[in-house]
Order: sequence, then structure tokens, then C-alpha cells
Amino acid sequence: MMTGWKAFGKQNPVVIKLPPPLTDSDTSLEEAFKSRRSVRDYSADSLTLQQAAQLLWAAQGITQPVPYGLRTAPSAGALYPLEVILVAGKVKGLDAGVYRYKPASHEIVEIVAGDQRSELCRAALSQESISDAPACIVITGIYQRVGKKYGDRGERYTHIEVGCAVQNIYLQCESLGLGTVVLGAFYDDKVQKVLNLARDEVPLAVMPVGAIK
Ligand SMILES: Cc1cc2nc3c(=O)[nH]c(=O)nc-3n(C[C@H](O)[C@H](O)[C@H](O)COP(=O)(O)O)c2cc1C
Repeated sequence: MMTGWKAFGKQNPVVIKLPPPLTDSDTSLEEAFKSRRSVRDYSADSLTLQQAAQLLWAAQGITQPVPYGLRTAPSAGALYPLEVILVAGKVKGLDAGVYRYKPASHEIVEIVAGDQRSELCRAALSQESISDAPACIVITGIYQRVGKKYGDRGERYTHIEVGCAVQNIYLQCESLGLGTVVLGAFYDDKVQKVLNLARDEVPLAVMPVGAIK
């Protein structure tokens, strides 16, 4: 069980309302499938808040609020074990820090102040794509949310869901002209420490994002 303030975040946290997501683009889904590649080198450009918001929405945004709050990615029993975290370094209009995405309100809430990209890079075997990117998205899973209904199967379902969210981010990057790569090589406990996560919130994927060099 999550206990203490970590379960709910800081008292009086910084909350940022995100720009509404775009639901149209000039890139067809088929073009995005065809051109998608893992990108590990990024230009020095900052991300815009609109781009960051769009990527968070692509991962887990609400697309049908009533009655269940259904999202861009499928979820076993609509129980939504995934959390999406933005590690912002250079995002225009946003202080560097770690922010948790709140799908229901399309907001982000600060959970760690300051630029944590170098620390996150160290927690991921010093993969420089992390420190070079203006921002990273970390997808975490809380297995109990599905485990309470599906038992041991909940872990498998959470892993299937993270794959869906990861591909949404890849394809959204394609249509925004950005690059990303999914990283699975990192130390869970070190990532948890950098992001100030409770022990039952397991990091499952780290995705640096930035403009392609
Ligand atoms: C589960 C998983 C873990 C991965 N982990 C890493 C990683 O830690 N570092 C990295 O640079 N790429 C990682 N990748 C990206 C793969 O190297 C990449 O998808 C593969 O080389 C195929 O290239 P493409 O994505 O451009 O098609 C991972 C991909 C998957 C699906």
C-alpha cells in the first residue's frame, strides 16, 4: 500500500493546467507507422508545453470522460494501472522538475523540483539519450490496481498496457516531428528514488523526447 505523503504528493503542490490536446494532424497513421524509428540524438531545441501536453495525452489522456473516464490506450477492466510522469528539463514555460500527469483534469502536478535528467540518466546505465533530451516521459505501473481484480494476471496486463502507451508516444512523436526511444535498461530502485516514487509504483519505461537532430 502507498502510505504517507508520497501517495498523494506534496502539500500545496505546483499544479499546471495543460493546453487542450490536438485531435488532428497532417500525418496519417500509416505514415507514422512507416516512418517511426527509435531516435537517440536530439537537437538543442526546447519542447513546447503544447508538445509535452500532447505526448502525455497520447499516453493516457481521457477520450471519453463519462461514465468511466476511458483513455487513449486500452486498459484491462478499465482499471488503469499506469501513471505517466514528465521529467522536464527544457520545456518552454515550465520550470525544470518532475511532474505527474493527471488524466482526469489534464493537468500536471510537480513531485520533484529541479532538473533531474542527469540523475535519471545515471539511474539508466548512463544512457545519454536521457540527459541530451529536453524532457523524458517515464511510465510507471501500480500492479495492485489490476491485481485486486485479476490476481497474478494483473502484472501481465500492466505490461501489455505499457506497450500500448509506449507505441502511442512513438506515433505521436512522429506526427509532431519529434523523436523518442523506449528505454527498458534502468535500475528500478534508482529511478524510484530520483522520481520520489512509493515502492509499489514500478517504473516500466523511460522515453526521452526531443526534436530530431
Ligand atoms: C522493451 C524494450 C526495451 C528497450 N530498451 C532500450 C534501451 O534501454 N536503450 C535503447 O537505446 N533502446 C532500447 N530499446 C529500443 C530498441 O533498441 C529499438 O526499438 C530497436 O533497436 C528497433 O529499432 P526501431 O525502434 O527504430 O524500430 C528498447 C526497446 C524495447 C521494445
